[in-house]
Amino acid sequence: MSLMVPTSPDTLPVNELIAHIAARYQEVHRRDLPELIELARKVERVHEAAPDAPMGLADALDRIFLELDMHMQVEENVLFRAMRQNLDGAIAHPIALMRSEHADYVGELENMRELAHGFIPPEGACGSWRRLYQGAAALDATLREQIRLENEVLFPRFEVAQTRCTCAHA
Ligand SMILES: [Fe+2]
Repeated sequence: MSLMVPTSPDTLPVNELIAHIAARYQEVHRRDLPELIELARKVERVHEAAPDAPMGLADALDRIFLELDMHMQVEENVLFRAMRQNLDGAIAHPIALMRSEHADYVGELENMRELAHGFIPPEGACGSWRRLYQGAAALDATLREQIRLENEVLFPRFEVAQTRCTCAHA
């Protein structure tokens, strides 16, 4: 029987999981989002007369990028750093804040999907329009997966540590 089963990020130790999130998601957002915003501006400008043009998508992406950039800085400089040092007591508040911002992103992603017409380009759409929707769909998928990894895999490891019962019962 083959043992070549790929490792799920869900089973990585804390330090490796944080490194995975940084490399696979944070760096990718910072690299891809400015280009995607530019592409959205171009498509809106060139196709503004088209009834199904994704008007408002560039501003929506811009807002996501600005908020996400600050969010990622707090994670990298405060939360992830404290987690790597195992400073349990210092992270309850940042975790709650990050969870609430994640919920906001899900709302922003829904709005983005609506503006991008479900990421389905119209018949005969140009290459830029298609690339824009592919990029927006990729952002939707990667940000949702990042949020899942943080909310459901990384954060609970520390929340359990904080709420562990200290009473004398078995
Ligand atoms: Fe996050």
